[in-house]
Amino acid sequence: MKRASMMGVTKVTRREANAGILASAIVAAAPALAAETIVLPPPRSTGGKPLIEALKLRRSTREYSDRALPSQVLSDLLWAAFGVNRPSGDRTAPYWRHIMVIDVYAAMADGVWFYDPKRHALVPHSRDDIRVQTGQQDFVGTAPLNLIYVAHGERMQDVPPEERRLYASVDAGFIGQNVYLFCASEGLATVFRGAVDTAKLGQTMQLGKDQFVTFAQTVGYSRS
Ligand SMILES: Cc1cc2nc3c(=O)[nH]c(=O)nc-3n(C[C@H](O)[C@H](O)[C@H](O)COP(=O)(O)O)c2cc1C
Repeated sequence: MKRASMMGVTKVTRREANAGILASAIVAAAPALAAETIVLPPPRSTGGKPLIEALKLRRSTREYSDRALPSQVLSDLLWAAFGVNRPSGDRTAPYWRHIMVIDVYAAMADGVWFYDPKRHALVPHSRDDIRVQTGQQDFVGTAPLNLIYVAHGERMQDVPPEERRLYASVDAGFIGQNVYLFCASEGLATVFRGAVDTAKLGQTMQLGKDQFVTFAQTVGYSRS
């Protein structure tokens, strides 16, 4: 990864690591780019079900219609997942050692997009519809959205590579639960998924050498 060699040191401060997030995401965005960056509508700041009701409704769904998500729903969902919720730039989900290890990608029919929380925008990553490659269950290819939680090992340089997956997975799990609760609140369907050929998906996405897929999560409307 260019970012890692640029720094040429074994330890990265949190500030350095966070400053490199967007840059490394853009470096990773090497595949053929078609579309322009899409600035999402501002996320709704009110509404939703009371938390207790959302907790009662939270569940995993494995049957999806192919109905697309309206852009406002996508905006609200991505903000709930891992958006900026404070002037400090911190997020709706906690993260390990104040280093934003996970980036959220959205695989949809029109391609793969990197979610840039600071701009609340979707940055094109590739024009390919790779939904079917985001998992091993039949619904992933037709549901409108599969979130892919990509970990950036180059932001965890003082952690041995064999331990990186542990911290990255915990961070992804918190994001996943935000998505579960948002979906429960909004009448959407979702399932967090580990049944993913992560190595192959990482290759398809042309991730950098220290980057890896942790989990994926399907979002859409229930077929039933
Ligand atoms: C780490 C993790 C990995 C999971 N992987 C899958 C998966 O690959 N496919 C799937 O259909 N569900 C997956 N699930 C969802 C669980 O099967 C589900 O949460 C569990 O059966 C309880 O059901 P509920 O979410 O409806 O309460 C996963 C959940 C977790 C926490």
